[in-house]
Amino acid sequence: MQEIMVSNIFFSFLLASLVYLLLLHGAKCETYTVGDEDHWSTGVNYLTWSGKYNFVVADILVFVYPKGAHDVNEVTEATFRSCNASNGVLSKYNSGNDQIKLTDAKKYWFICDIPGHCLGGMRFAINVTEASAAANTNNTTGSNPTTTPNKSCASERGRTMIYLLLLCGLLLKILG
Ligand SMILES: *[C@@H]1O[C@H](CO)[C@@H](O)[C@H](O)[C@H]1NC(C)=O
Ligand SMILES: *[C@@H]1O[C@H](CO)[C@@H](O)[C@H](O)[C@H]1NC(C)=O
Ligand SMILES: *[C@@H]1O[C@H](CO)[C@@H](O)[C@H](O)[C@H]1NC(C)=O
Ligand SMILES: *[C@@H]1O[C@H](CO)[C@@H](O)[C@H](O)[C@H]1NC(C)=O
Ligand SMILES: *[C@@H]1O[C@H](CO)[C@@H](O)[C@H](O)[C@H]1NC(C)=O
Repeated sequence: MQEIMVSNIFFSFLLASLVYLLLLHGAKCETYTVGDEDHWSTGVNYLTWSGKYNFVVADILVFVYPKGAHDVNEVTEATFRSCNASNGVLSKYNSGNDQIKLTDAKKYWFICDIPGHCLGGMRFAINVTEASAAANTNNTTGSNPTTTPNKSCASERGRTMIYLLLLCGLLLKILG
Protein backbone atom coordinates (compact mmCIF):
# COMPACT_ATOMS: atom_id res chain seq x y z
CA MET A 1 0.00 0.00 0.00
CA GLN A 2 2.66 2.42 1.14
CA GLU A 3 4.88 1.38 -1.72
CA ILE A 4 2.20 2.01 -4.32
CA MET A 5 1.61 5.49 -3.00
CA VAL A 6 5.29 6.30 -3.05
CA SER A 7 5.69 5.07 -6.60
CA ASN A 8 2.56 6.99 -7.62
CA ILE A 9 4.02 10.17 -6.25
CA PHE A 10 7.34 9.42 -7.83
CA PHE A 11 5.83 8.84 -11.26
CA SER A 12 3.62 11.90 -11.00
CA PHE A 13 6.67 13.94 -10.25
CA LEU A 14 8.57 12.36 -13.12
CA LEU A 15 5.71 12.97 -15.50
CA ALA A 16 5.32 16.58 -14.41
CA SER A 17 9.02 17.19 -14.93
CA LEU A 18 8.91 15.62 -18.35
CA VAL A 19 5.88 17.63 -19.39
CA TYR A 20 7.62 20.76 -18.22
CA LEU A 21 10.81 19.96 -20.10
CA LEU A 22 9.00 18.96 -23.27
CA LEU A 23 6.86 22.09 -23.24
CA LEU A 24 9.96 24.16 -22.73
CA HIS A 25 11.66 22.36 -25.56
CA GLY A 26 8.65 22.58 -27.86
CA ALA A 27 8.06 26.27 -27.24
CA LYS A 28 10.34 27.38 -30.01
CA CYS A 29 7.73 29.26 -31.97
CA GLU A 30 6.84 32.65 -30.66
CA THR A 31 3.61 34.54 -30.38
CA TYR A 32 3.95 38.24 -31.07
CA THR A 33 1.33 40.79 -30.13
CA VAL A 34 1.45 43.32 -32.94
CA GLY A 35 2.45 46.70 -31.52
CA ASP A 36 3.30 45.04 -28.20
CA GLU A 37 1.41 46.88 -25.44
CA ASP A 38 0.13 49.50 -27.93
CA HIS A 39 -1.74 46.74 -29.77
CA TRP A 40 -3.21 47.38 -33.23
CA SER A 41 -4.12 51.03 -33.23
CA THR A 42 -3.59 54.39 -34.84
CA GLY A 43 -0.60 56.47 -33.85
CA VAL A 44 1.80 53.55 -33.52
CA ASN A 45 4.90 53.15 -35.66
CA TYR A 46 4.60 49.58 -36.91
CA LEU A 47 7.74 49.81 -39.00
CA THR A 48 9.67 50.23 -35.79
CA TRP A 49 7.75 47.40 -34.19
CA SER A 50 8.19 44.93 -37.05
CA GLY A 51 11.90 45.69 -37.28
CA LYS A 52 12.47 44.53 -33.73
CA TYR A 53 11.94 40.84 -34.34
CA ASN A 54 13.06 38.03 -36.58
CA PHE A 55 9.97 36.14 -37.58
CA VAL A 56 10.20 32.48 -38.47
CA VAL A 57 7.75 29.99 -39.91
CA ALA A 58 5.06 28.93 -37.41
CA ASP A 59 5.34 32.09 -35.36
CA ILE A 60 1.98 33.65 -34.58
CA LEU A 61 0.97 37.29 -34.89
CA VAL A 62 -1.84 38.46 -32.63
CA PHE A 63 -3.70 41.63 -33.57
CA VAL A 64 -5.59 43.04 -30.59
CA TYR A 65 -8.06 45.91 -31.08
CA PRO A 66 -11.64 46.84 -30.30
CA LYS A 67 -13.77 44.87 -32.76
CA GLY A 68 -15.08 47.22 -35.45
CA ALA A 69 -12.56 49.95 -34.76
CA HIS A 70 -9.96 48.34 -37.01
CA ASP A 71 -9.44 45.29 -39.13
CA VAL A 72 -6.50 43.29 -40.43
CA ASN A 73 -5.78 42.53 -44.04
CA GLU A 74 -2.94 40.49 -45.37
CA VAL A 75 -2.31 42.14 -48.72
CA THR A 76 0.02 42.20 -51.69
CA GLU A 77 2.97 44.54 -51.76
CA ALA A 78 1.18 46.83 -54.25
CA THR A 79 -1.82 47.14 -51.95
CA PHE A 80 0.46 47.69 -48.97
CA ARG A 81 2.01 50.60 -50.85
CA SER A 82 -1.21 52.08 -52.25
CA CYS A 83 -3.36 51.46 -49.14
CA ASN A 84 -6.17 50.77 -51.59
CA ALA A 85 -7.66 47.44 -50.55
CA SER A 86 -10.23 47.27 -53.35
CA ASN A 87 -7.99 44.51 -54.61
CA GLY A 88 -4.89 42.68 -53.47
CA VAL A 89 -6.37 41.40 -50.21
CA LEU A 90 -5.11 37.88 -49.48
CA SER A 91 -6.85 37.37 -46.12
CA LYS A 92 -9.12 39.49 -43.99
CA TYR A 93 -9.63 39.35 -40.23
CA ASN A 94 -11.89 41.42 -37.98
CA SER A 95 -12.48 39.55 -34.73
CA GLY A 96 -10.58 42.03 -32.58
CA ASN A 97 -8.26 39.25 -31.47
CA ASP A 98 -6.89 37.81 -34.67
CA GLN A 99 -4.27 35.12 -34.43
CA ILE A 100 -2.42 34.74 -37.68
CA LYS A 101 0.00 31.90 -38.08
CA LEU A 102 2.93 32.66 -40.34
CA THR A 103 2.87 29.44 -42.30
CA ASP A 104 5.25 30.27 -45.12
CA ALA A 105 8.77 31.56 -45.46
CA LYS A 106 7.90 34.67 -47.45
CA LYS A 107 7.24 38.35 -47.11
CA TYR A 108 3.95 39.30 -45.52
CA TRP A 109 2.22 42.68 -45.72
CA PHE A 110 -0.52 43.76 -43.34
CA ILE A 111 -2.74 46.83 -43.38
CA CYS A 112 -5.83 48.14 -41.65
CA ASP A 113 -8.57 48.88 -44.18
CA ILE A 114 -10.56 51.43 -42.17
CA PRO A 115 -10.39 54.65 -44.29
CA GLY A 116 -7.29 56.65 -43.46
CA HIS A 117 -5.76 54.15 -41.05
CA CYS A 118 -3.38 52.52 -43.51
CA LEU A 119 -2.10 55.82 -44.83
CA GLY A 120 -1.94 56.94 -41.21
CA GLY A 121 0.56 54.22 -40.42
CA MET A 122 -1.38 51.05 -39.68
CA ARG A 123 0.65 48.90 -42.03
CA PHE A 124 3.84 46.91 -41.92
CA ALA A 125 5.81 44.26 -43.74
CA ILE A 126 7.68 41.33 -42.29
CA ASN A 127 10.10 38.81 -43.70
CA VAL A 128 9.35 35.35 -42.43
CA THR A 129 12.24 32.94 -42.70
CA GLU A 130 12.49 29.19 -42.43
CA ALA A 131 12.86 28.19 -38.78
CA SER A 132 15.52 25.61 -39.61
CA ALA A 133 17.66 28.16 -41.43
CA ALA A 134 18.48 29.82 -38.14
CA ALA A 135 19.09 26.52 -36.39
CA ASN A 136 21.27 25.17 -39.18
CA THR A 137 24.71 26.61 -38.70
CA ASN A 138 27.23 26.28 -41.48
CA ASN A 139 27.40 23.33 -43.72
CA THR A 140 30.71 22.27 -42.21
CA THR A 141 28.89 19.45 -40.46
CA GLY A 142 27.23 18.89 -43.86
CA SER A 143 25.67 15.46 -43.46
CA ASN A 144 23.09 16.13 -46.14
CA PRO A 145 23.02 19.73 -47.34
CA THR A 146 20.43 19.21 -50.08
CA THR A 147 17.71 18.05 -47.72
CA THR A 148 17.62 20.71 -45.03
CA PRO A 149 14.92 19.69 -42.58
CA ASN A 150 12.15 22.27 -42.55
CA LYS A 151 10.71 21.35 -39.23
CA SER A 152 8.44 23.90 -37.71
CA CYS A 153 7.70 24.19 -34.04
CA ALA A 154 4.22 22.91 -34.83
CA SER A 155 5.53 19.58 -36.04
CA GLU A 156 7.91 19.55 -33.09
CA ARG A 157 4.94 19.99 -30.79
CA GLY A 158 3.11 17.20 -32.53
CA ARG A 159 6.04 14.89 -32.01
CA THR A 160 6.27 15.97 -28.40
CA MET A 161 2.63 15.06 -27.89
CA ILE A 162 3.18 11.60 -29.33
CA TYR A 163 6.12 10.99 -27.02
CA LEU A 164 4.02 12.19 -24.15
CA LEU A 165 1.15 9.86 -24.98
CA LEU A 166 3.51 6.93 -25.30
CA LEU A 167 5.04 7.81 -21.98
CA CYS A 168 1.64 8.05 -20.32
CA GLY A 169 0.69 4.67 -21.71
CA LEU A 170 3.89 3.18 -20.43
CA LEU A 171 3.42 4.64 -16.98
CA LEU A 172 -0.15 3.43 -16.80
CA LYS A 173 1.05 -0.02 -17.68
CA ILE A 174 3.72 0.06 -15.00
CA LEU A 175 1.35 1.38 -12.38
CA GLY A 176 -1.56 -0.84 -13.40
C1 LIG B 1 -8.81 51.84 -55.53
O1 LIG B 1 -8.60 51.04 -56.68
C2 LIG B 1 -9.75 50.88 -57.46
C3 LIG B 1 -9.43 49.95 -58.62
O2 LIG B 1 -8.24 49.30 -58.46
C4 LIG B 1 -10.24 52.21 -57.97
O3 LIG B 1 -11.42 52.04 -58.72
C5 LIG B 1 -10.49 53.13 -56.80
O4 LIG B 1 -10.82 54.42 -57.28
C6 LIG B 1 -9.27 53.22 -55.92
N1 LIG B 1 -9.60 53.99 -54.74
C7 LIG B 1 -8.86 55.01 -54.34
C8 LIG B 1 -9.32 55.70 -53.10
O5 LIG B 1 -7.86 55.37 -54.92
C1 LIG C 1 13.12 41.80 -46.09
O1 LIG C 1 14.22 41.31 -46.80
C2 LIG C 1 14.63 42.14 -47.88
C3 LIG C 1 15.78 41.47 -48.57
O2 LIG C 1 15.51 40.14 -48.82
C4 LIG C 1 15.02 43.49 -47.36
O3 LIG C 1 15.36 44.34 -48.44
C5 LIG C 1 13.87 44.10 -46.61
O4 LIG C 1 14.26 45.32 -46.03
C6 LIG C 1 13.40 43.17 -45.51
N1 LIG C 1 12.22 43.73 -44.91
C7 LIG C 1 11.97 43.68 -43.62
C8 LIG C 1 10.69 44.26 -43.17
O5 LIG C 1 12.73 43.12 -42.84
C1 LIG D 1 29.38 30.44 -40.90
O1 LIG D 1 28.92 30.84 -39.64
C2 LIG D 1 29.62 31.93 -39.12
C3 LIG D 1 29.06 32.25 -37.76
O2 LIG D 1 28.61 31.11 -37.15
C4 LIG D 1 29.48 33.12 -40.06
O3 LIG D 1 30.25 34.20 -39.57
C5 LIG D 1 29.96 32.74 -41.45
O4 LIG D 1 29.72 33.80 -42.32
C6 LIG D 1 29.24 31.53 -41.90
N1 LIG D 1 29.73 31.12 -43.22
C7 LIG D 1 28.94 30.72 -44.18
C8 LIG D 1 29.61 30.30 -45.45
O5 LIG D 1 27.72 30.66 -44.07
C1 LIG E 1 28.49 25.64 -47.88
O1 LIG E 1 28.06 25.03 -49.04
C2 LIG E 1 28.22 25.83 -50.20
C3 LIG E 1 27.66 25.07 -51.39
O2 LIG E 1 26.77 24.11 -50.99
C4 LIG E 1 29.69 26.17 -50.40
O3 LIG E 1 29.81 27.03 -51.51
C5 LIG E 1 30.21 26.86 -49.17
O4 LIG E 1 31.60 27.09 -49.30
C6 LIG E 1 29.96 26.00 -47.94
N1 LIG E 1 30.38 26.74 -46.76
C7 LIG E 1 31.11 26.17 -45.80
C8 LIG E 1 31.45 27.05 -44.65
O5 LIG E 1 31.47 25.01 -45.86
C1 LIG F 1 9.27 21.13 -46.50
O1 LIG F 1 9.74 21.76 -47.65
C2 LIG F 1 9.35 21.13 -48.86
C3 LIG F 1 9.97 21.87 -50.02
O2 LIG F 1 11.03 22.63 -49.64
C4 LIG F 1 7.85 21.16 -48.95
O3 LIG F 1 7.42 20.49 -50.11
C5 LIG F 1 7.26 20.49 -47.74
O4 LIG F 1 5.85 20.63 -47.77
C6 LIG F 1 7.78 21.14 -46.49
N1 LIG F 1 7.26 20.43 -45.33
C7 LIG F 1 6.77 21.07 -44.29
C8 LIG F 1 6.30 20.23 -43.16
O5 LIG F 1 6.71 22.29 -44.23
